[in-house]
Amino acid sequence: MKLRHLILLTGALCTLSPAVAQPSPARQEPCPGTCRITPQTMLCYETPLAPLADYLREYINVPKASDSMSADEAIVLSLDPALGSEAYSLHIRPHRIEIAGGDYGGAFNGVQALFRLLPPEVYAGQLKLPAEIACTKAEDAPRFPYRGMMLDVARTWIDAAGIKRYINLLSHHGINKLHLHLSDDEGWRIEIKSHPELTEIGGFRGGDSPVRPVYGKWDEKYGGYYTQQQMGEIIRYAAVRNVEIIPEIDLPGHSRNIASVHPEIRCNYPPDTVSTNGYDYRSAWCVAREANYALLSDILGEVCALFPSEYIHVGGDEVDMTQWKSCPDCRALMQRRGMTDPHQLEDLFMERMAAILAANGKRPGVWNEAVRTGSLAHDCRVYGWESVKACLDATAKGYQTVVMPGQYFYFDMRQTPHEDGHDWAAIFDARKTYGFDFAAQGFSAGQMRHVVGLEGTFFSEAYVSHEPEKPDYLDYMCFPRICALSRIAWSGNDEGWEAYYKELVSAHYDRMAAMGIRFRLFPPKVNYREGAFTATADDGSEIYYLVGDSPEEHRYTRPVKTDKPHLYRFFTRYKSGRSPLVADKSYYRTITPAVTITTSMGESKQFPCTNASGYKGLSRTRRACRQQDWVLYMFEQPVKCREMYLQTGNRQLPKTIITTGYAEVSYDGTTFERAGDLEKGSITLKPERPVQAVRIVSTCDDNGTPYVTIQPPQVKPVL
Ligand code: ACM
Ligand code: ZN
Repeated sequence: MKLRHLILLTGALCTLSPAVAQPSPARQEPCPGTCRITPQTMLCYETPLAPLADYLREYINVPKASDSMSADEAIVLSLDPALGSEAYSLHIRPHRIEIAGGDYGGAFNGVQALFRLLPPEVYAGQLKLPAEIACTKAEDAPRFPYRGMMLDVARTWIDAAGIKRYINLLSHHGINKLHLHLSDDEGWRIEIKSHPELTEIGGFRGGDSPVRPVYGKWDEKYGGYYTQQQMGEIIRYAAVRNVEIIPEIDLPGHSRNIASVHPEIRCNYPPDTVSTNGYDYRSAWCVAREANYALLSDILGEVCALFPSEYIHVGGDEVDMTQWKSCPDCRALMQRRGMTDPHQLEDLFMERMAAILAANGKRPGVWNEAVRTGSLAHDCRVYGWESVKACLDATAKGYQTVVMPGQYFYFDMRQTPHEDGHDWAAIFDARKTYGFDFAAQGFSAGQMRHVVGLEGTFFSEAYVSHEPEKPDYLDYMCFPRICALSRIAWSGNDEGWEAYYKELVSAHYDRMAAMGIRFRLFPPKVNYREGAFTATADDGSEIYYLVGDSPEEHRYTRPVKTDKPHLYRFFTRYKSGRSPLVADKSYYRTITPAVTITTSMGESKQFPCTNASGYKGLSRTRRACRQQDWVLYMFEQPVKCREMYLQTGNRQLPKTIITTGYAEVSYDGTTFERAGDLEKGSITLKPERPVQAVRIVSTCDDNGTPYVTIQPPQVKPVL
């Protein structure tokens, strides 16, 4: 039960010292006096809470004394099932701190509530004793039992230490589920002892692996995996922190990796390697191949034995069903069963996964596509990612649903238009996540009964190309969006953004800094008027600026006078946090000179060259690139500009680039001169004369994907 809506106990909310008592628990009353935690304070606990006591001592260095629950000068951890799941009460008296949990998770949450009353150094394990806290009595319980975060370790490998760090950070934020996306087209990350090849081969791509390189790291063999022993340790580490790990093996689509290791699992028709430069693009398991279920039974059997979670996520998203339509065996299966729609094949496949899981005492977690027909048994848990409507549909059908529509909860999306990240779902920051409102989105009371909680997501296609150059990328993308997620999953957003933001800035930034999180600050406001820039930050952070392309940072203290507005970019820093760069708009403004684009690789029918030349979107070539292939940008009139950026591939999905090559510029349309090498498929030209044409020439044979993406030229005007 949610305690927040119970009547607040009488009396004003107490003012605590230090003044960082947020988030205020649902019920809180001040009590007289203060409590001192000293090096002699004893830590007393009921036996089932021994792991929590050990955990607490990593943060507050007091001696353990498990058998003296009534002692004074003590922190006392106990269980009180009457409180309910994950609920806690925290009573700070002058000589005792009493934390009671409805269960282990509740006691853990109570410990986190205590941490929030202490100076932020507690999160760094550097709390100085004695420490004083104002006396108080508080009770709270989470709004939702499921407060999750998904990490995609398949595209970008995150090692055991990195995962543990994240578990720790999530646990300080009240997140209690870590959904680990352990397999995808690009990687297989969990050891399966009966099939060691899945990780020994499938854990790595590029180099001599049959798994082709995609997403950066072109030249080196890239990857890694968790052994079952390592994962066991991660599971135990998470359990101490009230985090349950929910593993995902993404099926029956997103399986190109395992299909590269075991090609026999694919549908039975000739490989599509002719148009794809030797790269078989089939990515789904054949539903009709009976032997596939034996392999899946081996895999899922081991996954079920390893992970204690009740639910095992078996995917179900984005299945390319053209493979099943092309497969004589799948077609015959459909005919035998009287099926008219390949979605019914997915239903059949998922039912078989559910049966394997049931035989191992587990239930399936599935992406929302898997319940589109509504035929999958209702004991599954649906993860609604595609849209709010997908979540509304799943809950209307009576499925237990984790709500995580991409446009609010995919933290791999960019936060403003000129920052890094994807943009296919939306461009949004923590404020939008915080504002997610079930009622406004149309969830009825009946549908709300099927909402088990909320989840944030970090898919990592773009991440790999940010390492090691931007070591703060994951933190920067996730925080403070995870803070906003955790707040609405724990208690909702009744206090409103302004109040929440104030709390975030005044209390939580310091906590995140102490946790070592390299979080994103909101951008400073920048104005240019009458020859001077002014910049302001409303969060107490320090403002800096860059001039031109120089990496030298200048501290902003007063308006900056300049006659070159486009060369100034402002940003802020607060401890381990940084904001994005903010520039005068003219810096980013582009023009669209008439251009004709042609290529030696031919153009795809679906994405013709006119998309890019019309500045309407992406174009694709008909085939992959070979040496000496070219893309020609011929301008109608010579173009005078300060910068011209030409990019192959997709900035958010950096795989379909011309991996190595160079650019040539022509000022007359006939003679070309070499202007520089491509870097990650792109080049920025700074022509001193008007440009008539640019040609990109490939020096690589095969980019590992079946086509090259051509983008519109980005041309910045002379100011
Ligand atoms: C997904 O984003 N394909 C679940
Ligand atoms: Zn098939």
